[in-house]
Amino acid sequence: MRDAQPQSIYLKDYCQPEYWINQTELTFELQEDATVVTAVLTLEANNAGNQSGVLELQGQQLELLQLALDGTTLAADAYTVTDDSLTITGLAQQHQLSIVTRIDPAANTALEGLYRSGGMYCTQCEAEGFRRITYYLDRPDVMSVFTTHIIADGERYPVMLSNGNCIADETLADGRRQVSWLDPHRKPAYLFALVAGDLLHKEDHFTTMSGRDVTLRIFVEPQNIDKTEYALDALKRSMRWDEEVYGREYDLDIFMIVAVDDFNMGAMENKGLNVFNSSCVLANPATATDAAYQRIEAIVAHEYFHNWSGNRVTCRDWFQLSLKEGFTVFRDASFSADMHSATVKRIEDARMVRTVQFAEDGGPMAHPVQPDSFIEIANFYTVTIYEKGAEVVGMIHKILGADGFRKGSDLYFERHDGQAVTIHDFVAAMEDANGIDLTLFKRWYKQAGTPVVSAEVDYRADEQALYLTLRQQCPDTPGQTNKQPMWIPVQLGLLDANGQDLPVQVTPSVNAAGMETWTAASQVLHLTEAEQTFVFSGLESQPVLSLFRDFSAPVKVEFEQSAQDLLFRLQHDSDGFNRWDAGQRLMLGWIDQARLDEFELPEDARQVMAELLSDDTLDPAMVSYLLTLPSEAYIAEFSDQVDPHAIHLGRQRVRLAMAMALNEQFAACYQRLLSHAEYQPEPQQMAARTLKNLALSYWSVASDAGVRQALAQFGSSDNMTDQMAALQALICSGDDELAQQSLEAFYQQWQNDALVVNQWLSVQAGSADLGTLSRIQQLLEHEAFDWRNPNKIRSVIGAFANQALCHFHAQDGSGYRLLADAVIRLNATNPQIASRLLTPLTKWRRLVPALSEQMKEQLERVAAQPDLSRDVYEIVSKSLA
Ligand code: BES
Ligand code: ZN
Repeated sequence: MRDAQPQSIYLKDYCQPEYWINQTELTFELQEDATVVTAVLTLEANNAGNQSGVLELQGQQLELLQLALDGTTLAADAYTVTDDSLTITGLAQQHQLSIVTRIDPAANTALEGLYRSGGMYCTQCEAEGFRRITYYLDRPDVMSVFTTHIIADGERYPVMLSNGNCIADETLADGRRQVSWLDPHRKPAYLFALVAGDLLHKEDHFTTMSGRDVTLRIFVEPQNIDKTEYALDALKRSMRWDEEVYGREYDLDIFMIVAVDDFNMGAMENKGLNVFNSSCVLANPATATDAAYQRIEAIVAHEYFHNWSGNRVTCRDWFQLSLKEGFTVFRDASFSADMHSATVKRIEDARMVRTVQFAEDGGPMAHPVQPDSFIEIANFYTVTIYEKGAEVVGMIHKILGADGFRKGSDLYFERHDGQAVTIHDFVAAMEDANGIDLTLFKRWYKQAGTPVVSAEVDYRADEQALYLTLRQQCPDTPGQTNKQPMWIPVQLGLLDANGQDLPVQVTPSVNAAGMETWTAASQVLHLTEAEQTFVFSGLESQPVLSLFRDFSAPVKVEFEQSAQDLLFRLQHDSDGFNRWDAGQRLMLGWIDQARLDEFELPEDARQVMAELLSDDTLDPAMVSYLLTLPSEAYIAEFSDQVDPHAIHLGRQRVRLAMAMALNEQFAACYQRLLSHAEYQPEPQQMAARTLKNLALSYWSVASDAGVRQALAQFGSSDNMTDQMAALQALICSGDDELAQQSLEAFYQQWQNDALVVNQWLSVQAGSADLGTLSRIQQLLEHEAFDWRNPNKIRSVIGAFANQALCHFHAQDGSGYRLLADAVIRLNATNPQIASRLLTPLTKWRRLVPALSEQMKEQLERVAAQPDLSRDVYEIVSKSLA
């Protein structure tokens, strides 16, 4: 909470710290009413700092009990304490500073620092939570060897964990137990972790490529012990994959994961002791959907991969956040692509970038992958840092090829092991290992906004040549105008009349960066100027162009292609991603038409879709994506002015038209994929279930037989994927009583499983059929709801505001008011969650005028609240600016 307006922090102001902390020894006494923390810091002056002898440590919500320098208690006039700092002056080169503070984990509702969740203690220190544990140089370029002693009642807290290896376990004279841990790897404070509780664990082992044995343990509350198997398996597969694909081996004797119920994010990569939101690690077939399994696999991998991309090589400052997050998302995406279908993974990622990241890039919070300023770093764990950052790394991979990229990553890890570095260092390693100049490419890190690439084709029969003119332009974003052209890899293909790929011959041959414009192996054209014309020769007739295959760059594409060409590409494009993209563009056109009038599925499209549904040689997951309509949020990103009600109407009409025209095919597809094999969370089964349940969702829209089948599946399935899909189909059936009965039965069945209850909450709150304001209010009053638990808040309020768009955008503004009320309430208890919930309200400028005004009013109401946290203040003030 603040007195003055929060100030921005700038990348250009970065300077090194005045002291290093070479050793950090922490002792935690976990008592019932409070926790006492003793920190002993070994300080050494940084000779590159300005050597004023002044040390300013960060600290928040701490009660300072004692302060001693080299064994002597400091007099009160030898230091200054403020709300967020402790400053000591007159220091020499080396000291031992010991600090005793008292904190109150039970009162910590912000879930940053040390807090209680259920019966256990746990920590969340990234980005700036460690300063809520003790006074410290809480910045990632200060790396230290940590020793941790945990003292507590051994009966109540039989498990006491911290980073590294356990070095002692003793009983103290007073009967309390003390467990000590040493992490030999130097690390920044944000990677520190502590957990204590009455937990059980499942154990496994992994032999690294150099033959070392690593113990793997997943710790959970006792009721969840049957939900750890999949995460352990995903962990072993991640460890193997990182050895095989990146040559990276694990570096401690033990790797631990702890599941906690109250967690602001998905999971955290603390050295040797990852802490996970229970929703992102716990699963068994009866309670977790295939989507949840896939998410668990990806997050386990992501946090594990950080051990190299984030921990061994960390960030110099938080402006470099994408150095670890963008790269690690790229790594986990490649892993998921290898475990399942690469095409499907690419589709999912592109869909996410287009709906969420493009929206951020076009809104008030637009920022570069390497931002140049922020008010609150917690607000910058964004889709731009993560997803666009991963796309940028992916483009480097496209430019260098797999072998070149590996040479670059090897050099990066070798050169910077044990250091805190910058995005520039990462790119420099890629350049040096490949003898290539990426100066131009680095604009991707500095310029915010989504580039728009327009394409114009001119086929000249007399020359047997196709002239392709590409123009790029990047819109202004807050604080940034007049952007420079980017280096955009354009993967493309040319289709002949039979849908076969034609050989490609292009001129000119060299681009502005001195690189060949056409890389045959990856089928990539390198666009580097504002406008360039490429000539494709040797074409006897006009080909159909397939642009930006594999979503080769995170850009918007303006290219008029006829419905006929789109349908042709949906049928024939050899690039799976672009098959999907062609289908989506076709459907967007239909939805646009259907806003104004009834809609009937064109016969040629009906035939192509019918063929897709009956073709059992195709990957069923792929077919499912090809036939899934773009979400309302995705459609909104393709509209200039957003009218959520028109979008909803248009989409519903197209959905109904598809359901009716393909009713028999959906029914037959469902029957064909119905399986009685025992549930396994493995790729082939998952893919089949995806298509089966998509078929059910259409089938049950158009016919009673479909609804009956949904009811049968709801009652008989042995796994949550099928049960939840059936429940969703019943909710959409239009039979309110049936929907209500099913929801009640579901709750009765699962009321004791918190993670399933969260799914039950969100399926209602996020539903166009059910997510009305009055139901949201009911859910907020329900016994299963809890304002202190981020997962519950996301399940109800997050689902409502991000998915039930026709209700959130109620004409009377009541949906916006509800969200603003929630933000105001959470601002006081959990600012990070409050600020994240705000995102939908930041989009007011793009809405139709009547809604836009109402939304803005609610933002203004939030802005006018006293005691806004920095988190919420930054989002509302930038949104209204
Ligand atoms: N380092 C983050 C967790 C984090 C984020 C901590 C923000 C503090 C503030 C972690 O590696 C992460 O990125 N987690 C993601 C999931 C991942 C699969 C993208 C998350 O928590 O959503
Ligand atoms: Zn991460």
